[in-house]
Amino acid sequence: MGRYLVPYAMDPQGLELFRPYRRLLFVSDGTNYPLPAGRDRPQPTVADMVGHAYPDKRIVRTDFLTRAEAVDAALKPANVTFKRVDNGRFPLPFRDSSRDFIGMGRGLCLCEVDAYPKALPSKDRSCGGIVMAEDTATRFVGEVARILDTSKPGSLALLHGLQDVRLAPFWGKVTRRVMSEHPVEIKVLMVKLDTPIDTPAHTYEDVMIGLQLRPR
Ligand SMILES: C[S@@+](CC[C@H](N)C(=O)[O-])C[C@H]1O[C@@H](n2cnc3c(N)ncnc32)[C@H](O)[C@@H]1O
Repeated sequence: MGRYLVPYAMDPQGLELFRPYRRLLFVSDGTNYPLPAGRDRPQPTVADMVGHAYPDKRIVRTDFLTRAEAVDAALKPANVTFKRVDNGRFPLPFRDSSRDFIGMGRGLCLCEVDAYPKALPSKDRSCGGIVMAEDTATRFVGEVARILDTSKPGSLALLHGLQDVRLAPFWGKVTRRVMSEHPVEIKVLMVKLDTPIDTPAHTYEDVMIGLQLRPR
């Protein structure tokens, strides 16, 4: 699992992960808001970094905030397109089997939700806007399975975030349902963090979770 999380930790070595893919989709690939203290402008997103590293790839990055689009022009690679997409509105606006890589870094996080402005998720949502109810999460992960090009054995989708280990049975149910409806194999990967992180309202963020979808 560690290897798959590297790109989302912004380690340039991790960009190797993306080398095999041609049409990539990065969901909820916004810049951090509010910006970290001391930074007054957006940083390149994972999609931007992949676009710079691999100018021949076709890349789409999404977010539900239009301001996520307003990155410094110098950071914007020509092969990366921004599309405004709300992860909670189905169907997601992408064709069946149209991407051989789909990634969502830190979109399943249940951390710091209280720190976001009102327009952003409430406590029953991850910070990528995924409602933590079985039907909605199944629909979202099912959409990722639909968009993934399952005709190519190497295709890969990774949905990642910080969560509570007690959600493992929830994701077990969700992924079993998606696997029964789509030709994908889904692994729920979890890495226990050393220290649970306290937020003002919760102390429940203690695993890194990665849902890994591959063609079956
Ligand atoms: C913690 S940030 C992660 C950003 C980026 N993926 C990364 O790893 O740096 C969560 C992102 O999800 C976006 N988001 C929140 N609700 C969303 C929704 N309903 N649909 C799409 N994106 C959403 C936020 O605007 C934000 O950019």
